[in-house]
Amino acid sequence: MVEFCTAFHTITQVIELAPSILSADFARLAEQVHAASSGGGTVIHVDIMDGHFVPNLTVGPPVVKSLRKNTDLPLDCHLMIENPDLYIPDFAAAGATWISVHQEACSHLNRTLHLIKSHDCLAGVVINPATPVDTLSEVLDIVDYVLVMSVNPGFGAQKFIPSTLNKVRRLTDLRAERQLDYRIEIDGGVALDTVAEVVRAGAEILVAGNAVFGHGDPRVNASRLLKAAFEATLQKV
Ligand code: DX5
Ligand code: ZN
Repeated sequence: MVEFCTAFHTITQVIELAPSILSADFARLAEQVHAASSGGGTVIHVDIMDGHFVPNLTVGPPVVKSLRKNTDLPLDCHLMIENPDLYIPDFAAAGATWISVHQEACSHLNRTLHLIKSHDCLAGVVINPATPVDTLSEVLDIVDYVLVMSVNPGFGAQKFIPSTLNKVRRLTDLRAERQLDYRIEIDGGVALDTVAEVVRAGAEILVAGNAVFGHGDPRVNASRLLKAAFEATLQKV
């Protein structure tokens, strides 16, 4: 975790890197997670896909349980699934620390967010690139974090959608106006060529899959990405 604060600005922007295991080598998962962690990753992002809400399948609670035994870092479970209420207790029991659900997948979003909290997990809400921030107006005071998708969910290594940064800016403004304390996470296409604008827009938790695990050494990749994020924050002042 890297915290930035300046004598001239009262705003503190705490940046965290959340390596997404979607692009990791699943046969060497613990080793890859440790490498990303030693490069500065402080949250492990776990993408859960059901083949319905998104056109892809990934992992379920057993993998979360195995990860829990192999790392002390928070496990950030991003549920890209229909009927999340049916599975939230299982993910919490498996060791999820944070659980986020899609606004688009929840008929009773308020109830679902309270369900997450009732299991002592941090509760996040996620919006797809085509979903406006205004759809979250009535839950911003409930959530611990808001996850802005900067690609259409379902796959790693997609192209970053720049217009989603307007939503990060809007969430930053709304938080100040309403004196709320949710954190802002961004997911999709975060890499060395996009991280600066992402951070300058106000994102604090940076999910990165391909940029960390897609090539080379995850430790080096994570470290470079965090360094670029740090430098962008300095430029912001
Ligand atoms: C996409 C997932 C992301 C994915 C991001 O649906 O939610 O977490 O891993 O991958 P990159 O960083 O490769 O765009
Ligand atoms: Zn994700």
